[in-house]
Amino acid sequence: MNRIRINSPGGNSLILLGGTVDDIINLLPQRGLFIITDRNVEKLYGRQFPPGEVIAIEAGEKSKTLRVVEDICRKMLEAGADRSSFILGFGGGVVCDIAGMVASVYMRGVRHAFVSTTLLSQVDASIGGKTGVNLGEYKNTIGTFRQPEFVLCDHAMLATLPEAEVRSGMGELFKHAVIRDRNLFFDISASAGQIMAGDPAVTGDLVFRAAKIKAGVVRRDPLEKGLRRILNFGHTFGHIIETHYGIPHGVAVARGMTIAAELSVRRGEMDNSELRLLQEALEKAGLLTGHRLPEGVAGMISRDKKSESGSVNFVLLRSLGRSVIRRISITDLQTFVNYYNEKESHSK
Ligand SMILES: NC(=O)c1ccc[n+]([C@@H]2O[C@H](COP(=O)([O-])OP(=O)(O)OC[C@H]3O[C@@H](n4cnc5c(N)ncnc54)[C@H](O)[C@@H]3O)[C@@H](O)[C@H]2O)c1
Repeated sequence: MNRIRINSPGGNSLILLGGTVDDIINLLPQRGLFIITDRNVEKLYGRQFPPGEVIAIEAGEKSKTLRVVEDICRKMLEAGADRSSFILGFGGGVVCDIAGMVASVYMRGVRHAFVSTTLLSQVDASIGGKTGVNLGEYKNTIGTFRQPEFVLCDHAMLATLPEAEVRSGMGELFKHAVIRDRNLFFDISASAGQIMAGDPAVTGDLVFRAAKIKAGVVRRDPLEKGLRRILNFGHTFGHIIETHYGIPHGVAVARGMTIAAELSVRRGEMDNSELRLLQEALEKAGLLTGHRLPEGVAGMISRDKKSESGSVNFVLLRSLGRSVIRRISITDLQTFVNYYNEKESHSK
């Protein structure tokens, strides 16, 4: 089993990769455990849940609302949860975001940890302490930072993931490589078939390398004051595409990455040959989708939490494996969006 530690002023977190639920029993309290999960995960893995009160939500992004957070808090109160209770989020990114948020607000905060069950959450969502729910069409607008005490990633659980969810996870796997590690980018690309086929050894190794990248960034900037922003690569456009077209998070992020890479080329930051390499790799992995940017996208970006007084901190690429943060005005983004959508409509 591989271990990664994140020690930060906001709390310490231990990421366990390649273990099983048996490995965390000693890390959990004997009483007062609340397991937050979704109905799919409960059906598949309920028998592996440690003893505790189970609260299962509807699976999927539509559950990421304040209403669901409130419902969970009410159920916990009725079941006698107090400040000494412990929350174990058992599921994918949606469960982790919600369980983390409940843990940070219930009675002003209780201890929590995750068993991370999707490729996307193992490589990204369960690591780093960001929690959140959506405000209508605006993703993760309400949220907190709170580090889980530990995260268990049992790669064997990925065997039951639907193909579309494996692909989505590969989107965030690629993202970590594209912003920080050129070799990892080519290794993921070469292994796309094995990842889709669920090869646990290959997937486990790539998840470990990508998780180390995320942990390293979070350690240096746990509250996203600077460097951590690079983890948002592909997300400014990706979030809008995800909400507008209702497609899985990582697939939308992959689309957002190609658009951000194209913007990098337009602004003279990156060579066009690098963009071609990215497009080829994502196409080979089945992640190069043809979603246009919806109307009003620049206005939506101006209300994004990454935006401040008429401009936005945007993550661009200098090359594959090397990202930079630039401030771009909403007006310049609008010009790019017009160019991009015009070009896309001609390429049909
Ligand atoms: N907090 C962060 O740092 C962070 C980072 C990236 C993404 N996210 C968030 O994560 C969410 C996406 O996470 P996700 O892709 O894991 O989606 P998800 O949690 O909705 O899971 C996808 C689907 O897979 C099912 N599932 C989960 N584990 C399974 C398993 N082992 N076998 C079979 N089915 C399983 C779920 O029930 C669900 O239907 C988004 O809301 C995104 O905003 C958060």
